[in-house]
Amino acid sequence: MIRLDEQVAIVTGAGRGIGRAHALLLAERGATVVVNDLAVEADGAPRAQLVVDEIVARGGRAYASTHNAASESACAELVQWVDRELGRLDALVLNAGLTLFAQGEQSLHVGQGFSTADLATVRAQVELQLMGVYYLGQPAWALMERAGYGRIVLTSTSAIFGYRGDGSYGAAKCAVLSLARTMSAEAVAKGLDIRVNVVSPSAATNLGSGNGMHDRYAAGFSGRNTPENVSGAVLYLASRECAVTGECLRVGGSYVGRNFIAQTPGWVHTGDGALSPEAVMAHLGDITAEDGYVVPTDAEDCMTFMMTRVRDALAPTP
Ligand SMILES: NC(=O)c1ccc[n+]([C@@H]2O[C@H](COP(=O)([O-])OP(=O)(O)OC[C@H]3O[C@@H](n4cnc5c(N)ncnc54)[C@H](O)[C@@H]3O)[C@@H](O)[C@H]2O)c1
Repeated sequence: MIRLDEQVAIVTGAGRGIGRAHALLLAERGATVVVNDLAVEADGAPRAQLVVDEIVARGGRAYASTHNAASESACAELVQWVDRELGRLDALVLNAGLTLFAQGEQSLHVGQGFSTADLATVRAQVELQLMGVYYLGQPAWALMERAGYGRIVLTSTSAIFGYRGDGSYGAAKCAVLSLARTMSAEAVAKGLDIRVNVVSPSAATNLGSGNGMHDRYAAGFSGRNTPENVSGAVLYLASRECAVTGECLRVGGSYVGRNFIAQTPGWVHTGDGALSPEAVMAHLGDITAEDGYVVPTDAEDCMTFMMTRVRDALAPTP
């Protein structure tokens, strides 16, 4: 059984929903969990404290944090506290997220597409879901680098495939796929056992309920579309046993798959002169055909693939 005894984990946005399930499972498997959530319930109780109380009632160890995961200074303060009080950080689960649909305003489904998006909202999305990876990730990385070990789990979404009602949500969370690969490569280059992966979850929670999406899928998922059915994958990625880095697992309703960014074999212009717009028009089918696609490991790998395609196409036929 995978255990995290003696380990310390931070889970952001863990006061409810998917993050709460992550925190409960990590604590059940032995980790000391820092439950982070900036929200306060109507009666004044910090949401994070309620989850800490649940963990403690089940015999686990946890601490509440109300730091804002979208604030550079608050994130630095949180990691300093963890270092000072707990002395280590083994796993960082960046789960806090923000979608307009959490507010239950269906009219935003069209209004927050691209053409009329409110830029203050776009900035808030990017601030939490992209910049937040730096805000918490950089100080956390320093602790992990000191220990030579760490696990970081970022959170994405199916909205990376396009989400008419909330484009900035999908855009910010698509960026973390690239970032996870860059962070992974840095760890490998430095010989550190730091693994960075992404989970793209789906679960019927408050978030997403505003556009009725979860209601439409509830029956099809046979009631399995729960936060608990996401957390097993996250705990694996947050554990010593995690054997992958730079990957994105799509998880929900007890399904687990993989999301990746790929490149088609494409088409090579071998004639004289520069590639013409007409050639692109004529070969669009070859250019976009998905058969034989590759999944480059990084920018160099992508360039090597293109170069090889050109070299092979230009090679004289025997
Ligand atoms: N529910 C889904 O189907 C689904 C689908 C795709 C992605 N996700 C992602 O999974 C994660 C969890 O989603 P959920 O459904 O549990 O959401 P949720 O709205 O139920 O819970 C999110 C929690 O994050 C907290 N939070 C928000 N901003 C914060 C901040 N700046 N600092 C600290 N805490 C903050 C909120 O107070 C809330 O308690 C999010 O990143 C979300 O984008 C969820």
